[in-house]
Amino acid sequence: MQIINRLTELRTATRKAKAGDKSLALVPTMGALHAGHLELVEEARRRADAVAVSIFVNPAQFGPNEDLDAYPRMLEEDAAKLRTAGVDILWAPPVSEVYPEGFATKIHVAGPSSGYCGGARPGHFDGVALVVTKLFNQVEPDIACFGEKDFQQLAVIRQFVRDLDINVEIVGVPIVRDADGLALSSRNAYLTPQERSAALALPKALQKAREAILSGGEIAVILADMQKAILAGGFSNVDYFALADAQTLAPVTQLTGRPLRLLAAAKIGKTRLIDNLAVE
Ligand code: PAF
Repeated sequence: MQIINRLTELRTATRKAKAGDKSLALVPTMGALHAGHLELVEEARRRADAVAVSIFVNPAQFGPNEDLDAYPRMLEEDAAKLRTAGVDILWAPPVSEVYPEGFATKIHVAGPSSGYCGGARPGHFDGVALVVTKLFNQVEPDIACFGEKDFQQLAVIRQFVRDLDINVEIVGVPIVRDADGLALSSRNAYLTPQERSAALALPKALQKAREAILSGGEIAVILADMQKAILAGGFSNVDYFALADAQTLAPVTQLTGRPLRLLAAAKIGKTRLIDNLAVE
């Protein structure tokens, strides 16, 4: 695996990886890799001849009150995991290589970026759209893999890729869960043992909501009941527990015949967890 932090070197490596009409997949990450990320790498390896992973903690997607400096950085451990996983290129640029002096461009994606996590983190998805666009232009992959765990992020990425005619196939990879059903997240490490077991109230509420919706229950009532169940399970507040169109993320109050998604975010102790589930 080549570890690269200069764009000129990256261009040479990706040109080589794609020579002879070979396909290249990109897995964009911010590092601190866990089994969920490695599943994205596995999927990328299944779909392309060569795999590049980027590790870049993107300042543009952090708000002024979010602690960019505290975000975990562990390049050596991450690189070891990626080498074992069979990655070909690790693109780990410094901030100056992504946002050089004088950088002045912004991207705003309306539609799926509004509400949910976009409401709680203004500007966050614009920062994601900006860096993903840059990463696509730097690495020039044929496909890119993103986790469905960040379902709103995936919807925003699909939106601007479609809007801007970006020639990269976007692959959504299903959520990886612990055996008891909790979605894998770097944030699970912050949970106390008691919070970790109480956190199961979130995936359980999603499952229950899906069953109740598909059995024809009143959607508004089901969503309200599940919020109560999450709070009763030990969460201190529920940011949102919603049913949305899986593409536009517009809230839905009745079955539409289109793929739908339950989306949830809730806080337990000091940790905010998100999760989602398909309702099809
Ligand atoms: O999901 C993430 O880790 C980040 O938001 C991404 C897509 C790598 C952009 O910085």
